Amino acid sequence: MTGNDIRYLFEPRCVAVIGASSDPKKIGYIIIDNIISSGYEGPVHPVNPKGGQILDRKVHTSISDIDGPVDLATITVPAQFVMDAVKDCARKGVKYISIITSGFSEIGNHEEEQALVHVARENGMHILGPNIFGIYSAKAKMNATFGPKGIMPGHVSIVTQSGALGIAMIGKTKSERIGLSSIVSMGNKCDVDEAEVLDYLIEDDDTKVILMYIEGIKDGEAFVHKLKEATKIKPIVVLKSGRSKRGAMAAASHTGSLAGADEVFSDVMRQCGVLRAESIQDALNWCKYLANSVPPKGNNCIIVTNGGGIGVLAADACEKYGVDLSDDIETMKATFADVVPCFGSVKNPVDITGGASLQDYESSLDVAIDNDNIDSIICLGCETATIASGSLDETIRRVYSRGKVEKPMVFSFFGGSEIEGNCEKLRSDGIPIYTDVYEAVSCLGALYNTWKHSSRKGNGTEDPGVDLVCVNKVIDEVLADGRNFLLAHEAKLVMDAAGIAMPKSFIAADLKQTIEAAEAIGYPVVMKIVSKDIVHKSDAGGVALDLQSRHEVMDAYEAIMHSCRRYAPKAKIEGVEVVEMVRMDVETIVGARIDPSFGPVVMFGLGGIYVEVMKDVSFRSYPIDRSEAMKMVSDIRSYPLLLGVRGEGKKDICKVLDCILKVGHLIKNVPTITDIEINPLVVYEEGDGARALDARILVSPKKEVSS
Ligand code: COA
Repeated sequence: MTGNDIRYLFEPRCVAVIGASSDPKKIGYIIIDNIISSGYEGPVHPVNPKGGQILDRKVHTSISDIDGPVDLATITVPAQFVMDAVKDCARKGVKYISIITSGFSEIGNHEEEQALVHVARENGMHILGPNIFGIYSAKAKMNATFGPKGIMPGHVSIVTQSGALGIAMIGKTKSERIGLSSIVSMGNKCDVDEAEVLDYLIEDDDTKVILMYIEGIKDGEAFVHKLKEATKIKPIVVLKSGRSKRGAMAAASHTGSLAGADEVFSDVMRQCGVLRAESIQDALNWCKYLANSVPPKGNNCIIVTNGGGIGVLAADACEKYGVDLSDDIETMKATFADVVPCFGSVKNPVDITGGASLQDYESSLDVAIDNDNIDSIICLGCETATIASGSLDETIRRVYSRGKVEKPMVFSFFGGSEIEGNCEKLRSDGIPIYTDVYEAVSCLGALYNTWKHSSRKGNGTEDPGVDLVCVNKVIDEVLADGRNFLLAHEAKLVMDAAGIAMPKSFIAADLKQTIEAAEAIGYPVVMKIVSKDIVHKSDAGGVALDLQSRHEVMDAYEAIMHSCRRYAPKAKIEGVEVVEMVRMDVETIVGARIDPSFGPVVMFGLGGIYVEVMKDVSFRSYPIDRSEAMKMVSDIRSYPLLLGVRGEGKKDICKVLDCILKVGHLIKNVPTITDIEINPLVVYEEGDGARALDARILVSPKKEVSS
């Protein structure tokens, strides 16, 4: 191991507990007891100024009295003594410190916490916590937590920000017979964060699945980067609390108000290939299944059932969780013709009928296991007399042990207490059987999502063709003028520099120029007030649409000037913008902003004036490639509008993708832009392009998050 290698945390060669106590009720005792009784093979040193012995170990009065290096020191002294303990660790040359103690940033005591980080960094140490229950590592046979004893070693690693939930999960995984490779309590994350923990877990062969419970994210950009790297190698399941409205409340634009923290989180997790579970039970089911199942070789899933109704329920669940049902009729006929009665169905779902015996189940599943054109199996059953009279338990065990090495399988049997008892027994022995069809299919869905993501190939980043020099020049002038927003003509300059098409427009200082501009563009035209002091132009009566003639332009000019002067008498009016009135088609919205959690984020959705009502939008952390931009576009509910409805042709989706990549490039590479919103971006039929009718751009001298 070298320098700050995180293996010192997971595989320490020697541990100390500062604040060790001989009182069995105290955390300082429980941790020593847990470390010893979990079978840790390295030296364990209790530290307490009183000295003496704890659990037959000599108590050192100071950590500096310990012979040899200490890789991990766990601190269990009250908050006011933690700084001294950390300084002692620095003198000793400790590598990692796990600070159990509460009373820091979680109660507003940021200064003290930062001071600890400072001392640690100056001395090449790293801090886990504070405010944690500790760390368990199966590889080191070390339970350095004050949670329950007897953690079952296995292949799931839990990384949790919640202490109480984490401790409860130790108990729950035990009762669900889910083995753990590690469990790490993150607490206040003053130093070591999830991305660093992932560094270890990605490499750790014992860890097959990672379960993370997250409340908030600190360095979202680095985290996203690490998640993308990790999910190429092993599945990650995330549980996140807090459907926060923080982002929405403080937002200065639609992009912001639509970017509720939770919506952005969900989309970004999906982008990273992370499975987001809504409940603890789902998360644990998925982890157990993902840790034990073989990966699928293809998409073709089949359902074998003794009841049509439950088969349809499972088909619905397949659609919900992204499991593709095979519709290869020839394979189905060839496989099942000999084992399904003539009044059953060999189509997917395969209905072996209500009279099916356990022997019939076994025959059908055997042929499905043997057929290479079938990639996964969902086996369902409703309780019938023929099932109840046989040994369901033995049949499932036999079929599963044969099939599990070949392809993913899940089972769901529904019925009375006997069936439920059977299911429970089988599940505690590691067989994926559930009484609820949705629970069963969701596990298979988690596996398929992971498999599809890890086998997905991106198409590389591209240069979206944005003239950044020109953009920076425009924005420098805006900032020099003391503004944080761009006027319409300035936004148009930025759009031009980015190669995003806008309607033709001219700024006119007086009526004469206005008429000249309208005639040069051609009727009909739109007219908009230009004033730094009037941001909401429509509210001020500063917009006139569909002006068909010179006469209408003259009338509209007078009307706009009159109502804007009345709306804002002190406003400095620079003139009007005369804009080509373009024909309408599908209205979309494209935006980008600096998100408080994830940094540069792009947004796409159904645009127009109802954008906030419809909330039909998707988000991605930028950078993304063209294929991810396409996924983002096809994610929204209104996507069929872009494919063409009611006889219309397909829309120019390619131009939408260009626009998303361009605004992403702007937000990432222009340090002064905080928000961009194009609404609407009107998308015409394929080949006819798209036009940005309005672009709002917010800037700040120093890039700050817009919340
Ligand atoms: N070095 C070594 N030991 C020291 C010490 C020092 N500088 N200063 C005090 N101690 C000893 C104490 O003498 C005591 O040992 P004793 O039982 O032999 O007297 C031991 O450290 C613990 O100190 P004590 O004052 O008894 O504290 P405590 O055990 O009641 O509480 C914490 C300490 C850390 C558990 C408590 O402050 C705390 O933060 N609790 C919350 C923990 C938590 O919930 N974390 C988040 C979980 S998710």
